[in-house]
Amino acid sequence: MAEHGFDPGPANGVLGPETAAAAAAFETAYDTTEVQPPAAITAENAPDWCRLLRSAPRPALRDLAAARGIYIGTAVDAAPFEGDAGYRTAIAREFNVVVASLVFKFSELHPSRSEYSFEASDALVAFAEANGMAVRGHVLVWHNRIPGWLLDLRPSRDEAIELLREHIMTVVGRYRGRIRSWDVVNEAIDNQTYELRQDSFWYQAIGPDYMRLAFEFAHEADPDAVLYYNDYGAEGLGRKSNAVYELVGDLVATGVPVGGVGWQMHVRNGFHVTPDHVQNGERLNALGLEVSITELDVADPHPTTEADLASQAVAYWEVVSLCLRLPSCPAVVMWGFTDAYSWIPSFLPGFGNATIFDGSMTPKPAYYAVLRALRTPA
Ligand code: G3I
Repeated sequence: MAEHGFDPGPANGVLGPETAAAAAAFETAYDTTEVQPPAAITAENAPDWCRLLRSAPRPALRDLAAARGIYIGTAVDAAPFEGDAGYRTAIAREFNVVVASLVFKFSELHPSRSEYSFEASDALVAFAEANGMAVRGHVLVWHNRIPGWLLDLRPSRDEAIELLREHIMTVVGRYRGRIRSWDVVNEAIDNQTYELRQDSFWYQAIGPDYMRLAFEFAHEADPDAVLYYNDYGAEGLGRKSNAVYELVGDLVATGVPVGGVGWQMHVRNGFHVTPDHVQNGERLNALGLEVSITELDVADPHPTTEADLASQAVAYWEVVSLCLRLPSCPAVVMWGFTDAYSWIPSFLPGFGNATIFDGSMTPKPAYYAVLRALRTPA
């Protein structure tokens, strides 16, 4: 049983009756070997492979993931969550873990010195609990989304530590026993120096010790929550992943209660998993840490062709397969599941179509590739 009693489901491959029927119908339509990704996607083989992936009866992603003992989930945007019933219905059908793209961030939860705003975060947690889903808390300490009142306060080191403690104890304590894992610290490594970034309010106010303090406060507030360090561009082997490995290795070695490393995996179409990803995941697992895919999306340069959709499907297939292969990878979380609400077009001009459902909430080849990856024995 996972922490807090929420279990993603039997890890013994047993599916519920409805899902078993849908999965069986899915399986009879395709032989696993036949649907394996082609060695290379071309404009010629893309249509055939995408056609092979699709099938009318499709089990829910969450049921197949649960049968493999993992969570499959998505970031949830507040506006469609509040205003689009189809968005909520799709989330409840397909996923068994959710994370807020915005409403758990410091500026949203703590809009003024004496005020906390939990309406939106409470609504998401209640939705998750009503639909048998786990929740990832994102994010306690980040260099972004620092509210103006905090910047204006210019606190002393002791005041900053007390503010950090109060925020974490209040937020994590509110959801004690209800949130499986927290991104305690996000994106703390500088992409040029590979040291701790110093353009961070918390680093400047407290010093490098802010990380240890944040993890210790979070652990005190909820001893059962799995506490993550989350970052991007540190999934393979290289200077940044080595910096993350050393950072979390030092935390582990000094008894800081870190429990996992989040790989955001905001990748571009054409991405492939390599042995480096396996090696990096295994070395982090060897520290006793989980590795989760926390913000997966596969951005495609406009215009999107059939071959692009097929290669995007391969990327999703390989990332889910990577998680199933690692000794301890409990979750694959996508940063949005429909192109209708993806952050990519706003933040990455010229790119889009990064998710597994299109703008009209129709599953794309990538959706079926995730299905196949979950059904294909590791
Ligand atoms: O909803 C309001 C809208 O009403 C308003 O008109 C508009 C004008 O500013 O803002 C909208 O809110 C925006 C929100 O995204 C919408 O979801 C915020 O301004 C914008 O700052 C916010 O950006 C989020 C960003 O983090 C900063 O918090 C993105 O959605 C979110 O996808 C992104 O997520 C980050 C992860 O937390 C960390 N890893 C990278 C990832 C992508 O940048």
